[in-house]
Order: sequence, then structure tokens, then C-alpha cells
Amino acid sequence: MELRPMAPRCGVEIAGVSLSTCSDADVAAIKTAIYEHGVAVFRDQAFAPEDHIAFAKRWGGIDLNNYFPLNPRWPEIALVSKAPDQTTNIGGAWHTDHSYDQIPAMGSILVARVLPPAGGDTLFAHMGAAYDDLPDDVKSEIEGLSAFHTADHVYKADGLYAQTDQGKALRGQDLRTGAVHPVVIRHPVTGRRLLYVNGGFTIHFVGQTREESLPLLTKLLESAVGDDNQCRVQWQPGTVAIWDNRTSWHNALNDYHGHAREMHRITLSGEALAA
Ligand code: OGA
Ligand code: MN
Repeated sequence: MELRPMAPRCGVEIAGVSLSTCSDADVAAIKTAIYEHGVAVFRDQAFAPEDHIAFAKRWGGIDLNNYFPLNPRWPEIALVSKAPDQTTNIGGAWHTDHSYDQIPAMGSILVARVLPPAGGDTLFAHMGAAYDDLPDDVKSEIEGLSAFHTADHVYKADGLYAQTDQGKALRGQDLRTGAVHPVVIRHPVTGRRLLYVNGGFTIHFVGQTREESLPLLTKLLESAVGDDNQCRVQWQPGTVAIWDNRTSWHNALNDYHGHAREMHRITLSGEALAA
């Protein structure tokens, strides 16, 4: 197995391993690499839906996403799709998945099934590097602070997606979510300090209104996605990416209108987060 960093601070490409046949020692090394780099990319994988599910089970539990359409044949697999006539994509802004759950998903295994002729890359940003970069006064300001996260404004019946051409495909519009997490968490395995607020789901700091929270929240969100914290995944047939929702954020570029893109996603269970 050969590990090549994709950018100085985020992402690793892992070659020389077949995800459908690898050993337990390989899986352990892959997990370590993902916890450290935030996302790992594997190329030229023969990875049928059955292999996808079997590999996910080697991590632990599978979380079913409550909103995305499920693959009718393999309901553990959520479909992240955009048809040629749709203009809105899924995940097209910086976010981390499921932070609106009190026990957020650890990460996802995303497999490219249908790709546009060009575009449709996914950006990732490293939240350990983002935290390290904060000036000392901002670090002290967020020490001990928690934030409230929800997905209601995104997925409810009059939410962001319902007003777009993705609305009809989504489930769960009646669900209500809410969770509180520290603004700076420690990675459950590596112990690294990570910034854990995101533009998709973080509404306000605990003890502050949305309006009071916005100046600091905006500053944190903007500083976290500097170019030097990012890497870019260019998908090809056979590409699989696995990310850690605590260590990284992601952003799906929506630059391929008129073409289909379909990804298969399995969401991996996580653990409660602590400062
Ligand atoms: C996701 C997501 C990114 C992509 O599945 O959570 O944001 O590139 N997808 O499709
Ligand atoms: Mn996502």
C-alpha cells in the first residue's frame, strides 16, 4: 500500500490496495490515514454495491441518511444524484455530514457510478489545519464554547432543498433535528483539536442569538476554507473516496449542468464528540 498526500495539509491518495479484498491490517492502516488526512482517495477499484456494503461493515455500523433517496436494491446505499435537467446538486456548499445528530456519523464511503464528461469534483478542507491557523485571540474566544446544529432549515417542507429541483427526491421533510457540540472537538482517535462548526448546519453559539453569533461564526467558516487547507478530488470511473466528517469538510462542485452525476454513499456510524 502506498500513501501519497494530495495537498500539503489535506487528503491522501492510497494506491496498491483493493478495497474489496484487503486484509484487516490494510483496513487498520486505511483508517489511520483517513483520521489523519481527512479524506482518502482510491483509484481503479472493482467495487460492486455488495463490496461497498461489505467494506462499510468492516468499519462498524452503517447510519442510514434520513433524507437522500435510497438505492431500491441496496437500501444501505444512499443516492447522491443530479440528472441532466436538474440545476441544484446535493452538498454544493461547504459542510460536514450529520453534525445535526447528537452522535454524528464518522464519515462516508462515496463511490462514483455515473460521472459527467468534465467537472463534478469534490473539494475537502482540513479542520485540524483550520484550527491550528486561528490567531490566539480567536482560539481563546472559542475555548469552551458550544454551538447548536440542525438540518431543519435545509430539509424541511419549506427548507432550502424543497425550493429547488432536488426537493421532490428527498425524504424526511417532517423530521426535526438538533444537537449541541463543542466548537473545538478532539478527534476521538487521534486526539487532534479540530474546528467543528460548519456553514451547512451550525446555527448559533450556545448562549448567543443567531445575530450575535454571526460575526464570529462567519469569521471561522471563512478562515477554515483557505486554499492551502484544501484538496480536490477529481472523480474517475472506479474512484472511491472515504472521508472523516470530524477531520474534514467537503463541498461538491456544481459545474456540469446538462449532464448526469450519480454517486453511491454509505454513511459510517460515529461517536459522541467532546472538547
Ligand atoms: C455527500 C456529499 C459530495 C459529492 O454525499 O455527503 O456531500 O461530491 N457529496 O457528491
Ligand atoms: Mn455531504
